[in-house]
Amino acid sequence: MAQQNLNLFSLSLLSLATISLTTSLSPNCSGADTVVATTPLVTFLERVQETALGTFGEQDFDPKLYVDLSLKSNLSKTQKAFDELPRSGENGTVTVKDLKVFIATYFDDAGDDLVYYDPEDFLPEPEGFLPKVKNPEVRSWALEWLCLVHVFREVYYWDSYWVIRGLLASKMYTTAKAIVTNLIFLVDTYGYVLNGARAYYTNRSQPPLLSAMVYEIYNRTCDVELVRKALPALLEEHAFWNSEIHKVTIQDAQGSNHNLSRYYAMWNKPRPESSTIDKESASKFSGNSEKQQFYREVASAAESGWDFSTRWMRNTSEFSTLSTTSILPVDLNVYILMMEQNIAFFANVLGHKSTMESFLEAAEARKNAINSVFWNDEMGQWLDYRLANGPICKESETWKACNQNQNAYASNFIPLWIDLFRSDAALVENVTRSLQSSGLVHAAGIATSLINSGQQWLAIYLYLFPFIWYLLT
Ligand SMILES: *[C@@H]1O[C@H](CO)[C@@H](O)[C@H](O)[C@H]1NC(C)=O
Ligand SMILES: *[C@@H]1O[C@H](CO)[C@@H](O)[C@H](O)[C@H]1NC(C)=O
Ligand SMILES: *[C@@H]1O[C@H](CO)[C@@H](O)[C@H](O)[C@H]1NC(C)=O
Ligand SMILES: *[C@@H]1O[C@H](CO)[C@@H](O)[C@H](O)[C@H]1NC(C)=O
Ligand SMILES: *[C@@H]1O[C@H](CO)[C@@H](O)[C@H](O)[C@H]1NC(C)=O
Ligand SMILES: *[C@@H]1O[C@H](CO)[C@@H](O)[C@H](O)[C@H]1NC(C)=O
Ligand SMILES: *[C@@H]1O[C@H](CO)[C@@H](O)[C@H](O)[C@H]1NC(C)=O
Ligand SMILES: *[C@@H]1O[C@H](CO)[C@@H](O)[C@H](O)[C@H]1NC(C)=O
Repeated sequence: MAQQNLNLFSLSLLSLATISLTTSLSPNCSGADTVVATTPLVTFLERVQETALGTFGEQDFDPKLYVDLSLKSNLSKTQKAFDELPRSGENGTVTVKDLKVFIATYFDDAGDDLVYYDPEDFLPEPEGFLPKVKNPEVRSWALEWLCLVHVFREVYYWDSYWVIRGLLASKMYTTAKAIVTNLIFLVDTYGYVLNGARAYYTNRSQPPLLSAMVYEIYNRTCDVELVRKALPALLEEHAFWNSEIHKVTIQDAQGSNHNLSRYYAMWNKPRPESSTIDKESASKFSGNSEKQQFYREVASAAESGWDFSTRWMRNTSEFSTLSTTSILPVDLNVYILMMEQNIAFFANVLGHKSTMESFLEAAEARKNAINSVFWNDEMGQWLDYRLANGPICKESETWKACNQNQNAYASNFIPLWIDLFRSDAALVENVTRSLQSSGLVHAAGIATSLINSGQQWLAIYLYLFPFIWYLLT
């Protein structure tokens, strides 16, 4: 029952997304693709967003709010009323009063389309909850957090991993499975998990942690049916990340080829949820194809979950040099390696021997690729690799040491998250030493980077991966 309810919940969010886009893009790595149309509703809401910026001004302006508004009436009627609004404000803007009345008349508030849901497996104090936390104040604080449901107005892909860890700690297995079921539904519908459950997120994904979620739930519940349901979706997701635009082949110094993956959003326009901001950032470029490439880089950085970090910039003090699609990221490839191992594990659970064998081989190949392309022995870290060919797809390119990004990022240590690397004690010691002298470790957690560019995330950020606890304790 709970699962059905949650599915309905996600369907209501997704109903927007079923309107198909009018132009599709063939897999083409040139990056200078023609602009594709988005849904008429999203296009219209972007116009409302732009008008609102002119009317209300930049202070406290939240562009996402406007693309999340839900229509009270039909689109054509709303659009007509909008076009008829008087432009009697300064510089031809709509006045604050007129726009407020229009929004109140034609829209429900952002989030009003959410259906309230009371999970049936919620326990106010689950048995064995945080057994190591003895301090009563900290315990009651943690238990209060258990009741905190709404953080976002929609489901986000990689955030769900931590939500599921929390649900499992709270013994809310039914709800955890329902979230995974919703993410599988996205793969069945789109071929990959969307960044979030919104029509305007249909052209990018996020760090692929679905297999890790299924693994964690299976580990607690031994639910073979969940694994049976998830495996086809995981195979499809794996193919997505190893498709033409996401896959790059690098030839190492010994002449061996390695396949690795990159972030690459199928999008070359401003992100609808931040359209006004993206247009402003792109105003540095005069050419249309340069703007389109920049928009793709912005959307791809959003896909990486590190939006926005100097990791993706050619010049760390210049946002317009964002070049996410020209980088082979360490963390993405570690997540995919983990996906390959998990798929092999699930195939074994279901008795699919040949799938298990081919994914064990794929994992082994990716481990070699990670060590050949990313590992830097002198630094004791795995470093992102910058493609000399940029975003362009080529048969393969040859590895050069100077293309490793030597800046310290938390992602340089992510391989230690998985047993495959963590089981090598000498390596762990080396990398731990390197982390400790990297400058990233602070009392409050691990900083994502040492470069203060003023971008979101670059302040000290709690990178709550289990391996961090492993290293520091
Ligand atoms: C965006 O995603 C939709 C839905 O998956 C797809 O139909 C469309 O072709 C994509 N657009 C581009 C430019 O790839
Ligand atoms: C890729 O895009 C370029 C530039 O837009 C175009 O000239 C070329 O024909 C495209 N190739 C394919 C296979 O679509
Ligand atoms: C939208 O609503 C108007 C007035 O209520 C109606 O005349 C029109 O047919 C509707 N359009 C659609 C596409 O439903
Ligand atoms: C109107 O335009 C002028 C000149 O571009 C500008 O200085 C002023 O700030 C604008 N006013 C508003 C409310 O945007
Ligand atoms: C769950 O994980 C623990 C710790 O890694 C492991 O020892 C155990 O075998 C796992 N259980 C299952 C059913 O996979
Ligand atoms: C890389 O991918 C190609 C297919 O595109 C495949 O033929 C080759 O075996 C792969 N290489 C490795 C090392 O897995
Ligand atoms: C990087 O960007 C800054 C700020 O735009 C600029 O001053 C500097 O010259 C740039 N550095 C290089 C190497 O291009
Ligand atoms: C450990 O680090 C040193 C340099 O700091 C390096 O020479 C050595 O090969 C590393 N050992 C391992 C096992 O990675």
